[in-house]
Amino acid sequence: MQTITITGGQTLRGTIRPAAAKNSVLPLLAATLLCSGPCCLRSAPELSDVDTSLALLQAVGAKTVRHGPDLCTLPVSAQELCGEIPAPLAGAMRSSVFYLAPLLCRTGAVRLPLPGGCRLGPRPVDIHLAGLAAMGARVELEGDAVTLRRFGPLQGVDFTLRLPSVGATMTLIMAACCAMGTTVLRGVACEPEVCDLVHFLRSCGAQITGEGTPVLVVQGRRALGGVTYQPMPDRIAASTYGAAVAAAGGQITVTDCAPAYYRAFLQFLQECGVEIFWQEQAATLYRDPTVPLRGGRHLYANAWPAFATDTAPLAAAVLLQAEGASEIYDHLFANRFACAAGFAAMGAACTVRGRMLQIAGSAHLEAAEVQAPDLRGGAALLVAALAAEGTTILRDPGHIRRGYADLPAELAGLGAQCAVQRQRVPG
Ligand code: EPU
Repeated sequence: MQTITITGGQTLRGTIRPAAAKNSVLPLLAATLLCSGPCCLRSAPELSDVDTSLALLQAVGAKTVRHGPDLCTLPVSAQELCGEIPAPLAGAMRSSVFYLAPLLCRTGAVRLPLPGGCRLGPRPVDIHLAGLAAMGARVELEGDAVTLRRFGPLQGVDFTLRLPSVGATMTLIMAACCAMGTTVLRGVACEPEVCDLVHFLRSCGAQITGEGTPVLVVQGRRALGGVTYQPMPDRIAASTYGAAVAAAGGQITVTDCAPAYYRAFLQFLQECGVEIFWQEQAATLYRDPTVPLRGGRHLYANAWPAFATDTAPLAAAVLLQAEGASEIYDHLFANRFACAAGFAAMGAACTVRGRMLQIAGSAHLEAAEVQAPDLRGGAALLVAALAAEGTTILRDPGHIRRGYADLPAELAGLGAQCAVQRQRVPG
């Protein structure tokens, strides 16, 4: 059993570069199933969700190879692929849903036990299914699994998403690439990771316009070849480093990640009193640890370009010690603030009211034994522990490994006292 120990009170200093974005790499790996040539994703991070994706690809008959930091997939014929996604892999991550469209297109039928992932509240897949049904797929729901079949090729459609779901937008882009004729997708997500999927598919030969706007137009059935592609940097990891220096104090430079990708978070940190020097591809952040942060913030997490939901727990970790009461409302997920129990164990006064987290501020944080409830909540507890007096023990760090290759080592590289401990289980 592993834990992370964090001894607070060390200021941070140094330069750090975020890895390729988890939320780009995972759909891109699924999209490689559509390509008739080899695909290489450069510098793909070693995350447990990436390992799960590789296991899933292999389970359905795809061939994958790691060349040092790059992840490559080799083309396979439709006959070599199967559309049966094993339940343990589907249940291990939300991103198993990205395999619906490519496997339906390639094999004609796909069965997905409903996907797992962070327990952030209800996470239905109705928009994915409604869009695929509109393109001609037959959808059968039985128990906890969904089966999709097509009889002939999918058909291009004019489809409006009932809300701008990131995952459903990606599913429908992939399906539209295989559909006959033109597909118009309205009300789509505009997140940078959606744009990254479009850029990847376009590099493979797809014809797609409108990324970054609410309307996407896809001309289907273009031959998709292979490509070597550098996925975008992880803007949530970049925000995590920003939150860490805000909580602990010090000066760090985050390189190779355009501040425009996490502008809302940087602006929030600036409003709290962190000094930021913005460049095109880097940001330098400075916080004097002897000067209290300014609280009194009212944040509203929503779809891009608003304040990102994944950064809401990180913002909370910063605001615990800031002067003045703050509130964070998450419009996207009903249970974003499961980390509040850990904050409270460290001595913070904070209350979850529905989708809102209320933070009294001015907390004197003290070390505690806390549990990572989910990926970003776990990272937020780690950030809060950097500002706490004493040594915090963070249990269940496996959640954090789903999205950060080695966050404790990265923060230790910046001067934090933070390490992974392997504990013996008695008996
Ligand atoms: N929704 C539906 N029906 C659907 C799809 C989504 O009701 O068919 C709802 C969800 O329940 C949620 C809202 O729409 O309330 C937004 O969900 P969305 O589909 O946009 O999110 P996602 O694709 O499931 C991705 C990221 C999340 C990130 C969100 C929002 C991946 C693998 N996950 O999830 O990242 O928070 O977009 O930006 O790309 C994380 O990295 O820790 C993480 C949770």
